[in-house]
Amino acid sequence: MRTVINNIATYLPSRVVTNDDLSKTLDTSHEWILTRTGIERRHLVSDGEFASDLGIVAAKRVIEQADFDPANLDAIIVSTTTADRHFPSCGARIQGEIGAVKAFAFDVGAACAGFIYSLTIADSLIKGANLKNILLVCCETLSRFVDWTDRSTCVLFGDGAGALLLQSSNDDHRGIISTKLYTDGSKEKYNSILAHNGPQNDHRGYTTMKGQSVFKYAIECMDQSVTEILTENDMTFDDVDWIIPHQANRRILESLCKMKNFPPEKMIITTNEHANTSSASIPLAMGYGIESGMIKRGHTILLTALGAGLVWGSAILRL
Ligand code: ACO
Repeated sequence: MRTVINNIATYLPSRVVTNDDLSKTLDTSHEWILTRTGIERRHLVSDGEFASDLGIVAAKRVIEQADFDPANLDAIIVSTTTADRHFPSCGARIQGEIGAVKAFAFDVGAACAGFIYSLTIADSLIKGANLKNILLVCCETLSRFVDWTDRSTCVLFGDGAGALLLQSSNDDHRGIISTKLYTDGSKEKYNSILAHNGPQNDHRGYTTMKGQSVFKYAIECMDQSVTEILTENDMTFDDVDWIIPHQANRRILESLCKMKNFPPEKMIITTNEHANTSSASIPLAMGYGIESGMIKRGHTILLTALGAGLVWGSAILRL
């Protein structure tokens, strides 16, 4: 039994904000942002547009593309750390909006690693609980959780969503081959890597980060999980067609290639167009890779991500 990706769709809000736009209100420049992060522009939500709104568009798109009846969905898993509300969940809202009457729905909060965490849960539900059809939605609006006067964080993020229709299949040549997850909560205390102040503070709060620590851990943790998952599956980079890492920062991805020998020609990078869209970044990059014709049916894809927590992980799948 395998969990296969039947279809994937994405959605980016229509408002595009360039680095030059940001430099009109912040003490920053296109050159600084581009050189330090590889980001050129980002899509941001407008007033009244929330994470579940992005997720609903991506969900409707994937259902339409797959010509699938949402009444046949068994579950909806939504990865988000920037939900519209603490409760009800984005999952419940999306379930109602798309008419997935039989599906149970819930949110997963694993920051920028949320897609790999959610993929692992979906795979377990298909293999362990005999579910047939799962909608996995990643929708994020980090722009609502940054301090727009703090140039060291607000320039890094964008908003967006991706949705995947996952199905059980007897085709052993396709689907999720392996996933691996890790958490180290002690790093949050020591480094305040990326903390959204919750209700114990001011009920909204902003993202704070020690950028250089995140940079270092991102390289070390993603390398560790990729090395372990490849070894456990008796694979090397030669067995992989594409690597899709979390798109936090182009320099992190270049460092993985220079310091850890990741093959740069196999890496999909969309940081310049999307910025860091947290857990939506891998689905957005996967959607781009498929639409642009780089990723094809039968290709083997290696995913890796690290997020606030610290949480991190990797996955290998064949499209
Ligand atoms: N424009 C201009 N100058 C800036 C800006 C900005 N937007 N932001 C910071 N600076 C200044 C700082 O004030 C500092 O000035 P000073 O030397 O006068 O004090 C100077 O630039 C250097 O600041 P650093 O923080 O040392 O810059 P660094 O080279 O480390 O780059 C960055 C900062 C881009 C955040 C980097 O540390 C980084 O990419 N870290 C990874 C963090 C990341 O990607 N996080 C994403 C979220 S977590 C995740 O997704 C896993």
